[in-house]
Amino acid sequence: MTTTPKPRTAKAKKSAKPNKTKALKIDVRSADITGIDTPALVVNLFRGVKKPGGATGAVDKALGGIITQLIKDGEIKGSVGETTLIHTLGKIKPKRVLVAGLGPQDKVDVQVVRRVSAEVVRFLRRKGISSAATIAHGAGVGGLDPKLSGQAIAEGTHLGLYKFGTYLTKNGDTTNEFEKLTVVELDKTRAKAIDAGVKLGCTLARASITARDMVNEPANHMTPSRMAEAAQKVAGEQGLKIEIFGNAEMKKMGMGAFMGVAQGTDEPAKLIVMRYDGDPDNPENNLGLIGKGITFDTGGISLKPPGGMEAMKGDMAGGAAVIAAMEIIGQTRPKINVLAVIAATENMPGASAQRPGDVVRAMNGKTIEVINTDAEGRLVLADALCYAREQGITRLVDVATLTGAMVTTLGKACTGVMGNDDKLVQQTIEAGKKTGEKFWELPLFDEYKDLIKSDVADMKNSGGRQAGSISAALLLAEFVDGAAWVHLDIAGTSTSDKVSGYLVKGATGVPVRTLAQLASDLAADSDYQGVPKKPRGKSKTKQRSVP
Ligand code: BES
Ligand code: MN
Ligand code: ZN
Repeated sequence: MTTTPKPRTAKAKKSAKPNKTKALKIDVRSADITGIDTPALVVNLFRGVKKPGGATGAVDKALGGIITQLIKDGEIKGSVGETTLIHTLGKIKPKRVLVAGLGPQDKVDVQVVRRVSAEVVRFLRRKGISSAATIAHGAGVGGLDPKLSGQAIAEGTHLGLYKFGTYLTKNGDTTNEFEKLTVVELDKTRAKAIDAGVKLGCTLARASITARDMVNEPANHMTPSRMAEAAQKVAGEQGLKIEIFGNAEMKKMGMGAFMGVAQGTDEPAKLIVMRYDGDPDNPENNLGLIGKGITFDTGGISLKPPGGMEAMKGDMAGGAAVIAAMEIIGQTRPKINVLAVIAATENMPGASAQRPGDVVRAMNGKTIEVINTDAEGRLVLADALCYAREQGITRLVDVATLTGAMVTTLGKACTGVMGNDDKLVQQTIEAGKKTGEKFWELPLFDEYKDLIKSDVADMKNSGGRQAGSISAALLLAEFVDGAAWVHLDIAGTSTSDKVSGYLVKGATGVPVRTLAQLASDLAADSDYQGVPKKPRGKSKTKQRSVP
């Protein structure tokens, strides 16, 4: 019952120091915990418990009541993330016991397990301990489903240990890597369920790490072409169809909004299209995942101020999340057709860059006045959304680091959701509750539409200072052509500024796991009838005579 990591990637081989957390092994064993030969055995404790029961109680007893004593002394409280290391001095097989706090029993859920699992393995790594055994947190009196507990342990462990060390020629702050975790459960049936959860959790976490790696990668390495290669690698491994379109092809398709952004750089732009055919007999059972792939956002001619501009290497986080979600979907194989469309380019102020005041025409024929070249995400997404609609997609979810206003509004705790279809919005929020990735809806009231009215074109790409995230979404809404659509603004949540639970500084991998969860939830939702594909009308001829 061992999950073996996939062979190292072509991309990673090029790196000076590949991310070692991908090589982490998690397995499940059916055994008695006190008899396990391990450098550290992880048990847990709910807050307020005076005398531990279950597995923790058994260990306490074998150690002559030391855990009970430490609780009495006030050294162990059982709060979430608390870690207490006890040396067993030969009293039991495990050399050490680590007591992990789970917080109040009535509050334990998979998110707590993810968080605690991350804190535990990071603690062990700091101590130079490279392997451990653990009980399945929350699956005892906590009442969690053993499979979900196993999944959460695997996710928390992988994601919490993650480091982006590619360009560190020395080992950085850690010389030891954590290499192996064994989840121990005496009952064979429960061990089997835990194992299934661990395997799924590893798949989900590895894909989130695919996204994190892409986002953390500097922009001189993670170019649109390299993004396309990363997508090709995922498609190759998971047996997905993939097409990559270049500038000339996109111009021909009438993607004037996307090409307006791409004209400021010498770096070739890419439209990355991936397909998973999970329900080929029912083409209307589909989902489109659309990602913003700005590999660097200087702002263009409306140049950004230099302070913090380096963070704009992560402006392709939406695209990375979509590619990584396809990595999961290819493995979990839900009964739904999923089309991924990633619009990848740099936003540079080159000699042929577009100017404020320029008018561009998107693939559906609609015109946009470019007030601010830094509002480029909505421009590239406009054409990507049109493309997905042309492909017959009737449910759209776009993911983008779209607005600084989103960071002001919701900070880094949750992703802003906007959309035109209440059901799809709710399904996205619900999927997020399962993955622990939080979402909060913002309104798209008609009153806000005035913000993007233009005197010279159908709309303008900047609505000024008011309701910045909403006005950006309202522009996108002009390109969904009647389809059910949800927009996820991950400007705040795609990166973390601190280590916290299973997040570390840098890219978070949000919302990779939620996108995959949504695909699987939609596949299970058989009520869905689909929105008929609209025949393309006169705009098709219009698109040829573009600026
Ligand atoms: N990529 C940025 C948004 C962003 C800001 C993402 C901070 C992550 C962190 C986007 O392209 C942008 O520049 N938006 C402008 C829009 C404005 C010019 C209407 C913004 O938010 O300032
Ligand atoms: Mn911008
Ligand atoms: Zn941007």
